[in-house]
Amino acid sequence: MDQLKRQAAARALEEVRDGMQLGLGTGSTAKHFVELLGERVAAGLKVIGVPTSEATRADALRCGVPLTTLDEIDHLDITVDGADEIDPELNLIKGGGGALLREKIVAAASDRMIVIADDSKWVPTLGKFPLPVEVIPFGLGATRRAIEKAFAECGVSGQMAVRKAKDGHVFVTDGGHWIVDAQLGRIVDPPGLAKALSAIPGVVEHGLFIGLASSAVLAGGGGIRVIERRKPKGDQE
Ligand code: A5P
Repeated sequence: MDQLKRQAAARALEEVRDGMQLGLGTGSTAKHFVELLGERVAAGLKVIGVPTSEATRADALRCGVPLTTLDEIDHLDITVDGADEIDPELNLIKGGGGALLREKIVAAASDRMIVIADDSKWVPTLGKFPLPVEVIPFGLGATRRAIEKAFAECGVSGQMAVRKAKDGHVFVTDGGHWIVDAQLGRIVDPPGLAKALSAIPGVVEHGLFIGLASSAVLAGGGGIRVIERRKPKGDQE
């Protein structure tokens, strides 16, 4: 599996040109990309990256990839990131690693987002992977009820749980928020649910990435498949 992730990362690296400004994703697949990018930088490639998490910042520094912020540059050429699920419309569930907020800000600031994954992430319908919803701890009871209402209006339901870290304490994101993971099973209308969740005051962000991915690089036993998004970036219909 790790080999497949690295193959997908290597294929995405072929899209990177000298002088590019890159969004650097988070997770085990994106980590391969950062490592391979570091090798190219050591060989003379000139790029600059914006990391989507403190973990990726540390990896990039370790690998010698120069970093900047979205305050210092006005756009990114490509963001390369992993995903927890990818559907045929290239809608995604992300946030298994808890970095969804920065990942979405960075992806939205990019001309292109390339999703890299092993092909087990490819699904006909999103939802088997629990949907991460990043929330403000204040008023969580009210926010949870509003989320349940949004689920019902969008034809889904399922158990919700506040994410715990390995040490048993509540998981806290890089932004200081909490995550509620929702076991929905099958999300019939991802764009509709994304819109409904975004409208809830206590929800900071959610893991549905709609209309952001430009292409997906999927590595499997039979080789690599590149799937291009048919609709323009940002088109949610
Ligand atoms: C991080 O918050 C996530 O969005 C990751 O991109 C996603 O969980 C994929 O991670 P892996 O590459 O480790 O499967």
